[in-house]
Parts: sequence; structure tokens; C-alpha cells
Amino acid sequence: MNLLRCLLVLSLFLLGGCDNRKSDDVIIFGTSADYPPFEFYQDGQVVGFEIDLANAIANDLGKRAEFKDMPFSSILLALAKGQIDVALASMTPTKEREEHCAFTKTYYRSVVGVVYKKGSAVPDLKGSDDVTVACQLGTVQEDWVKRNCRAKRISIDNVASSVEHLKTKHVDGIVVDGIVAVALCKENPALAWTVVATLDESGTAMGLKNKSRLVEKIDAVLDKLENSGVLAQLKEKWGLKDLVQSTEGEEPAK
Ligand code: ARG
Repeated sequence: MNLLRCLLVLSLFLLGGCDNRKSDDVIIFGTSADYPPFEFYQDGQVVGFEIDLANAIANDLGKRAEFKDMPFSSILLALAKGQIDVALASMTPTKEREEHCAFTKTYYRSVVGVVYKKGSAVPDLKGSDDVTVACQLGTVQEDWVKRNCRAKRISIDNVASSVEHLKTKHVDGIVVDGIVAVALCKENPALAWTVVATLDESGTAMGLKNKSRLVEKIDAVLDKLENSGVLAQLKEKWGLKDLVQSTEGEEPAK
């Protein structure tokens, strides 16, 4: 019996020891690939602005980027558990999140948009409890809806499935980052969008474990990519327009 227990302990130890995901030449990025143009599936592959950015960063650091797709709401937990090295999910550095992780510099700023069916009225999120809106679980948009809207809210784990809910009229709108709204409308010509808010906490950055030395390294590469114009090229490639500048004081974009 004792021998059995020893063997069990030994095998658990060996298994633990075999967890070589901490191989030094790989950076594991945890993402939620339902958020075009940041990260999404195209022909079975995860692609997007942040995927290119992560690859460029890993490459510059002499490492290989590996991507783990998971629900957005699980990413910070996976980071805390050490299952991933970097949260890469168009994540906004909020004060609340900063209590649990460290963020790199921000490399994009967004607005809050609502996507709705073309031909329907723009859903009156703030004023009416007669409309239902979908937002992604654990996002700043979910928080914004909770705090500011009378509309009924459905929190959904996957943005792609919220598009289905909209098409089948289970909801009247989806609240997402503005540039994602642009991408969703491009993919689905029956949809339109408009800006509903510009938040103070609206940047996009990568999240790492507190005190991770990788933060400074990634920041240095981000500076390099910005100065060399590569960051701007990637934004151009993926259609990451500056919506904060272009929408302030203007009629909402359709
Ligand atoms: N920017 C928002 C936030 O940080 C939403 C991000 C959702 N990201 C995603 N890949 N689905 O809360």
C-alpha cells in the first residue's frame, strides 16, 4: 500500500515536472478569438491585428508565439494560474483589472458601439426597458450597460453567438468595441452600428502577471514597432481606424 502511494506521489511529481510549457522560447498568449479585427477565425486559423502584433513581438524577443483560445471571461484566471503568459484580447486596462495584473502600454483606443439590424431603429439602450441588448461576459461593455442602461441585458460568452442572437431577433443590439462593430457590419451587410459612448477606460493593451519582467520587454518592442511604422502598418492592414478622433462631435457612423 505504501509502495503504491509512493509510486502515485512519484508519478504526480514526474507529471508536474513534465509540464514544460514554460519552455523559454515560447510565449503563450491567451486570447478570445471572437473579436474581429483584433483576433478571430478565418479559414480555421486564428488571425487578426493582435495576432500579428504578438507574432512581431515574440519574434523581436527571439521567441515563438503560441495562442490559446478561450472565453474572454476566463483569460485573467488562466493568467493567474500560469496557464498563459500574456492576456491578448483587446483588453482594456481598467483599475479593477490592474489590481490583478500588469498591463503593457496601450496601442489602441476604442469607443463603445451598438450593432443593430439595418432598417430597425437604433436601440434606445439608456432610455427604454423595452429593448434587450447582448454584451460579452466580463467586458467593460457589460459593465457600461449595467451602469448606464435601462435596456434588458444578456451577457454572452462569445461575440459570434451574440451576432446570431441579433440576426434571429433574440436581442435588439450588441454592445461591443466600436471597431469590432465596424468589422461585424462589414461581415454582415444586414447590420449597422452607431457609437454609444466614449469611456475614460478605453485603451487596448496586453495583460501580464504582476511583476512580470516581460512587461518592460514588450513595451520596448511596442516602442520600436511604433517608431519604425510597423504598428501603423498593422493597424492599416486590419482597418483599425481611430474612432475616438473621428467620431467626436460628429454624427454617429452607420
Ligand atoms: N475591450 C473590452 C474589455 O476589455 C472587450 C474585449 C473583448 N475581447 C475579446 N477578444 N472578445 O473588456
